[in-house]
Amino acid sequence: MKFFIDTANLSEIKEAHELGVLDGVTTNPSLMAKEGISGKDNVFKHYKAICDIVDGDVSAEVIATDLAGMIREGEELVTIDDKIVVKIPMIKDGIKAIKYFSDRGIRTNCTLVFSAGQALLAAKAGATYVSPFIGRLDDISQDGLELIEQIRLIYDNYAYETQILAASVRHTMHLIKCAEIGANVMTGPLSVMLALLNHPLTDSGLAKFLADHKKVNG
Ligand code: E4P
Repeated sequence: MKFFIDTANLSEIKEAHELGVLDGVTTNPSLMAKEGISGKDNVFKHYKAICDIVDGDVSAEVIATDLAGMIREGEELVTIDDKIVVKIPMIKDGIKAIKYFSDRGIRTNCTLVFSAGQALLAAKAGATYVSPFIGRLDDISQDGLELIEQIRLIYDNYAYETQILAASVRHTMHLIKCAEIGANVMTGPLSVMLALLNHPLTDSGLAKFLADHKKVNG
C-alpha cells in the first residue's frame, strides 16, 4: 500500500519523507491556501519545492472547471516536474480532460469522488488515480469504507488499472481498513501515519527491556 501525505506543508512533508515510508503527496486548493501560497509563480515554486523533497507522485489540482482551462492548466503543471500528477475534479468537463490527458500519457488524479458510478467513469476515462473521500462521506453518515469496497470490486471485475487512492483519511482505522480492502494508496495527514506507531505494549515492553538491561549492565 502506498502512503501519500495530504498536505502542502513542507516541514510535514520532510518529516514524513524522513520516516522513509512516504510514496507521494496530494494537495488541493484549500491545503495550498492554508500555507498562504498564492499567485501562479508562488504556487508553481511551491509544487517544485514539494517535488524536490519526495520520491513519488505529487498531485497538483487545476482551478479551472472548463475543459479548455483544465487542459491549459494541466499542461502547464506537468512542466514543473515529472512527479506532477494533474488533479482534476469529478465533473463532466473533468472526465473529458482526464480522457484528453490519458490519451497523451499524462497522469491524472480524479478528485472529489463520492460514488461508485463516479469512480467507474473516472476509470473508463483513463484516470491514473481515483480519489474517493471517505472521511467526508462518514461526516454525512454514509460509510466511506463501503465505497472503497464497491470500487475495489468494480475495478477488479474489469481489471481497470486506475489506482484507488483513499482520500480524506482521518484516523488509523480508516487506513487499516483501506489496506484490508485493497486500496492501492491512502492519503492522510502526518498524524495518521505517526499514530500507526503507537501501542502501549510496545512502550511498556521497551521500558522493561531497558530496565532489565540496566540491572546487569548498570
Ligand atoms: C484528497 O486528495 C484531498 O486533498 C483530501 O484527502 C481531502 O481531505 P479532507 O476531507 O480531510 O479535507
